[in-house]
Amino acid sequence: MKTTFQNIKGTFDILPDRSSLGGAEGAGSATWQYVEATIREVMRRFAYEEIRTPILEPTELIARGIGQSTDIVSKEMFAFERGNTHYVLRPEITAPVIRAYLQHHMGQSGGVQKLYYIGPCFRAERPQKGRYRQFHQFGVEAIGSDDARADAEVIALMMAVYHALGVETSRLRLNSLGDEHSRPRYKEALRQYLEPYRNDLTETSRQRLERNPLRILDTKNEKERRLLDGAPLLIDAIDDESRQHYEDLKAFLDDLGIAFEEDPYLVRGLDYYTRTAFELESASLGAQDALAGGGRYDLLAQDLGSKQRVPAVGFAAGLERLILALAAQGVELPQTPPLDAFLVALGDEATRWAFHQAQGLREAGLRVSLDLKGRSMKAQMRAANRQKARFTVIVGKDELAAHQVQVKDMESGEQVAVSFDVLTNYLNERKFKILNSKS
Ligand code: HAM
Repeated sequence: MKTTFQNIKGTFDILPDRSSLGGAEGAGSATWQYVEATIREVMRRFAYEEIRTPILEPTELIARGIGQSTDIVSKEMFAFERGNTHYVLRPEITAPVIRAYLQHHMGQSGGVQKLYYIGPCFRAERPQKGRYRQFHQFGVEAIGSDDARADAEVIALMMAVYHALGVETSRLRLNSLGDEHSRPRYKEALRQYLEPYRNDLTETSRQRLERNPLRILDTKNEKERRLLDGAPLLIDAIDDESRQHYEDLKAFLDDLGIAFEEDPYLVRGLDYYTRTAFELESASLGAQDALAGGGRYDLLAQDLGSKQRVPAVGFAAGLERLILALAAQGVELPQTPPLDAFLVALGDEATRWAFHQAQGLREAGLRVSLDLKGRSMKAQMRAANRQKARFTVIVGKDELAAHQVQVKDMESGEQVAVSFDVLTNYLNERKFKILNSKS
């Protein structure tokens, strides 16, 4: 016997019409479509335009963009080689967007490019609730502005998406990482502070002490947290311009009524950040509580070969985590719209007529289904019920002869004869009546 196949661990199928929101994996495609449509609507309001970049990118772009010593690049890339080309399944979309921006000279107009994306990303992490190997991000990049208003707008947009979907967020953490001069100075100060405690550190932090001491600030280990209490603070070490930028950003967020918490220990898992870094959490997610994260990355374009400095800021968010939060918070989502009509036909001639008629009704904009298996009338009625058809249109030999159908209202059970020529109008009128009475 041949074995059947299962999806790869850490990936999942999105199936149609799953009415129960059993977490990200349980949500049906209608839920995903609704969430995506809401995201696009918020992007429209903020005047961000969509960019779609390939899922395959050159490995070097990602390694250089995100940083060799990050977990993503050192441990989590799905990378492979064919011929002389090194490919990676993109683990994030910021570096690809900046690649496209530079490649297509998108900065030539001189303004700010406000771009958004929705799409799959890949990281070989240990799968668990809220953490997948193929997951989906939506996010934005505002490219070409130094101004703290760009940072504030990006954060406001991020919050607006959760607001539009009715998802409660718990904490927006904010920090400034300084610029290319102050950060290395701080790194060194932190290294010197931690060096005497080397033996008290976890293995991971010991490695980070050599390669990337900033990441130790991120630790969840209690002992290390206590150690860090006495460490120099990033915010005290940053340059004056970065500090001013940070103050401006906080003032803009206050103006917009966006609550945040300053967190001097917030650093991010990607190396390209300068100045602003932020992370949005949800209390309903458990261990993987980061809904979204982002910040400013004024040096990334140059790291990727640009001769000019291209200041930019953005965020990205996990769609699975958003859907998990929706589910945990019991947010009601619109279901797949019911059928306007299911055509039930009896006999060859009527079946032919119904198949043809369905096409006309669909052209008129109605959502219509019918049997495709030659099933009995009873089975067809059952299918109409299952698909929650608003009306069932029944046609047999007698109806064909009389040029009329029986239309059954599936809610009231009432059944009336309707002539062929007015069937489309009849169903359309009732559809709009139903829609109006609901609103
Ligand atoms: P990130 O923090 O690595 O940032 O990812 C952003 C979001 O993607 C996370 O907050 C989380 O919701 C989701 N996410 C990440 N990894 C996984 C996973 N394995 N499974 C499920 N969800 C996941 C970035 O990717 C940056 N590019 C953000 C950015 C945009 N910075 C500036 N612009």
